[in-house]
Amino acid sequence: MTHHDPLQKADFGAIYDQPDPRAYFSTLQPFGYVIPQYGADAFTRLLSVLPIRDVSPTVLDVCSSYGIVGTLLRSDLRLSDLYAHYTDPTTSAQSPQTLREADRKLIAERAKGAAPRVVGLDVAPNAVAYGVEIGAIDAGVTDNLETDDPSGRLTELLAGVDLITTTGGVGYVTERTFDRLLRSCPKDVWVAAFCLRTYDYHPIATTLARHGLRTERMSRTFPQRRFTDEDERQWAISRVRERGLDPEGKEADGYYHADLYLSRPLDATETRHVDALLADAF
Ligand SMILES: C[S@@+](CC[C@H](N)C(=O)[O-])C[C@H]1O[C@@H](n2cnc3c(N)ncnc32)[C@H](O)[C@@H]1O
Repeated sequence: MTHHDPLQKADFGAIYDQPDPRAYFSTLQPFGYVIPQYGADAFTRLLSVLPIRDVSPTVLDVCSSYGIVGTLLRSDLRLSDLYAHYTDPTTSAQSPQTLREADRKLIAERAKGAAPRVVGLDVAPNAVAYGVEIGAIDAGVTDNLETDDPSGRLTELLAGVDLITTTGGVGYVTERTFDRLLRSCPKDVWVAAFCLRTYDYHPIATTLARHGLRTERMSRTFPQRRFTDEDERQWAISRVRERGLDPEGKEADGYYHADLYLSRPLDATETRHVDALLADAF
């Protein structure tokens, strides 16, 4: 299912907009794709410390796909549970509609008492519809902010956002998307983004700074997934070297690694460094 030209990142586009996430999980499982769980653990911790306007905070998950981070934030299910569920032979035999109904029940049964509200943004309409239908995300939009300004509906949703998150999204989305988001979000929104070390986050951090947010990078990095093959490994190693980074112990060991960036208002009252905020979150 993957398409891979020599020396570039593998293309998983075919699994991003299916009627349900079975192909997503069965394709990514062999590569140990784990970043949504690190994301959910980090975002849950951040939600417990950021100042919120309402009774429950609102997250905007950028590149939300089938609502995977939403499921992990809103229920006590872990990513390992989702892999087991979506690759189970019983699940494989179900029709998309039967699966949706079962998943909706599962998420409702496993819902956390104090769950955040999650808005999903992704250009994949089937994935977004699935996420909304099973209750992984409370609302979903398919605007492409790389090319267009937000729709009226998205603009309304953005007005209530406390935390913008993304895992596996930077590269697909750039400073163009973040600029458009920040124009409509509250001035004190926080942004927590995992970004592969093969990509440069500086253009996004610079854009966020123009909107009054200061960015910190966590000291540790996070394995995202194994490389699909030797060509991809070589591509990633040369990209991080070009960026002046050392691949030893990270990409050289066969894994993409992501940095975690946290951006918050200059006058934020919670001022501990992101390393301290997330010290024991994982
Ligand atoms: C690698 S997946 C990551 C999905 C999920 N966040 C995760 O960690 O499993 C990348 C996602 O980015 C979405 N995407 C690509 N271009 C986009 C854009 N311009 N705006 C929003 N989403 C986009 C794709 O549809 C896909 O769902």
